[in-house]
Amino acid sequence: MNQKPARVVAIYPGSFDPITYGHLDLIDRASKLADRLIVAVLQNSEKQPLFSVEERMEMLREVVAPYPNAEVDSFQGLLVDYARQRSAHLVVRGIRAISDYEFELQMALMNRRLWPELETVFLMANEAHSFVSSRLVKDLFRLGGEISGFVPPNVERRLKERIAVKEA
Ligand code: PNS
Repeated sequence: MNQKPARVVAIYPGSFDPITYGHLDLIDRASKLADRLIVAVLQNSEKQPLFSVEERMEMLREVVAPYPNAEVDSFQGLLVDYARQRSAHLVVRGIRAISDYEFELQMALMNRRLWPELETVFLMANEAHSFVSSRLVKDLFRLGGEISGFVPPNVERRLKERIAVKEA
């Protein structure tokens, strides 16, 4: 029988373009489950992100500062390879609605096939954030909507700067 590792190192991977209160809620919950939580930004050359990986990491670092057991990093390639490299055996992902489940299940099972020692856990964010996504926040902001209830103030500030520059 496998033994539980002495220290639970968890990875919360994502695009975080940008971080929302939904992500932050997940970080809060996951930081209580793991001894060490690595919030890892995917360096994905296929997507056209609004913020660079460095900018996303900076925003994440600002919001995870109150969590002493959380750190921010980035990775490229397969999540399982990164997890192995960081000696992490747990992946945390958020499920908002049943529509998220199918893709998340495929990813979790693929990751398990690739590295059976990696376990995925799904956490439900507070229902107040269940409909919030980075994409919707960006759309809402571009169309002049109020976003302060969906993203932390540092992210709102950066969005204002970025979108003002893009549209200038
Ligand atoms: O925030 P997102 O965009 O939903 O996060 C998706 C993420 C980063 C978790 C996922 O795309 C990922 O893990 N990518 C790394 C490549 C990988 O390992 N894919 C799964 C097995 S093919």
